[in-house]
Amino acid sequence: MSSTAVIGLQWGDEGKGKIIDSLTATADMVVRYAGGNNAGHTVYVGDDKYVLHLIPGGILHDKKVNLIGRGLVVNLAALHEEIDGLVARGVPVLERLRIDGRAHLIFPYHCKLDGMVEKWRGSGRIGTTGRGIGPAYADKVARTGIRLIDVLDAEYFKERLNAALAEKDAVMREVYGVEPDSHDDLYETTIEQAAALRDIIVDGGKLIREAYAAGKKVLFEGAQGAMLDLDAGTYPYVTSSWTGIAGIAGGTGFPANKVDRALAVTKAYCTRVGEGPFPSELHGKVGEDLRAAGGEFGATTGRPRRCGWFDAVQARYACEFNGLDGVFITKLDILSGFDEIQVCVAYKLADGTEVTEYPAEGSKLEGVVPIFESLPGWSEDLTAATSLADLPENCINYVRFMQKQMCVPVVSLSVGPGRSQSFECEISEVVNA
Ligand code: IMP
Repeated sequence: MSSTAVIGLQWGDEGKGKIIDSLTATADMVVRYAGGNNAGHTVYVGDDKYVLHLIPGGILHDKKVNLIGRGLVVNLAALHEEIDGLVARGVPVLERLRIDGRAHLIFPYHCKLDGMVEKWRGSGRIGTTGRGIGPAYADKVARTGIRLIDVLDAEYFKERLNAALAEKDAVMREVYGVEPDSHDDLYETTIEQAAALRDIIVDGGKLIREAYAAGKKVLFEGAQGAMLDLDAGTYPYVTSSWTGIAGIAGGTGFPANKVDRALAVTKAYCTRVGEGPFPSELHGKVGEDLRAAGGEFGATTGRPRRCGWFDAVQARYACEFNGLDGVFITKLDILSGFDEIQVCVAYKLADGTEVTEYPAEGSKLEGVVPIFESLPGWSEDLTAATSLADLPENCINYVRFMQKQMCVPVVSLSVGPGRSQSFECEISEVVNA
């Protein structure tokens, strides 16, 4: 096996950062393929906490190539800030980082538009991170976007930027009725920011294909989660990229049929930030207890996350369309102390029918009533567990239940944020529920 992908199974924030960090030990290259600095991947090294937004999770390891793939939208100011922050902490970022010249850029006008569009959506707002992600991807698809490689040709960049600014300024004035920000130094600043990266700009697809052909191990790092996928997720309450396994080929230039192992990370319960359907959401005290116990506040925006029980309908759907080989469960320790733990196993629709398949219709999803199955909880602290044998029986049964519901083997459990607080596991049982 020389290529492995790890994606989020739910709505993001599943703890992918930690899993990627641990898998990096056996990889040669770590590649991001979608999203931008809307992501926030937290990694602990000892007591030191690192939050990565654009830079792949292998950056904290020596001798690994970390690639920002062509499918990302990159805010150069944010990228430099992230690089500088890591360099100040002693991480030799420029030795380890590469960026695909085909990646599109996020400009300040994208961030401004993100806010404007949200305001106009009113009660239908998505609750975006405000990082300009949607408007930058929209420009890419509309073919008015600007790629990193385009900035290296100053004359060409000037033409593209002037055309984009003329259009964006008109939209600001005519549609939103606001005076556009000054763009005085945008051209020069962007050229400087891109020039500082010149030595690490590459053809990412070629880099990965050659590494793979040479027997190197490539790790693809998903951002956000399966349910935020532009096509498969809870549209329109999604992000603007392909967050699942399907995003890898387009977002990197690595052929789809060469992804050897597809893995996903799920929390032992569910969270979601921003608006949109969340069938197993808990509104009362149990939800608040989960948020407090799990420290469920956004790594990028600091927003409190909505919390709920594990949703097997959603998880199974995400396992299926991503063709997964295995699942990591994170934050299992957070469930210690709950007398009973519930799992959403079906949805009751407004007309009274029960379904176990994830509905595509937003209108159906908004009104579903979750059907829960209740399992006995456990009180033991799990944070020092190093194998299945250290877990209480009720906890093992809970994991077994999750596995049965997902129809995909659970391959590892995480019981705390530290690098040592996870272990491989194999729960033998016919996987088909
Ligand atoms: P956008 O990606 O900023 O456009 O936001 C679209 C939706 O995706 C919003 O509901 C965000 O809260 C959500 N989202 C974007 N990135 C992340 C992430 O990394 N974790 C969790 N939710 C995210």
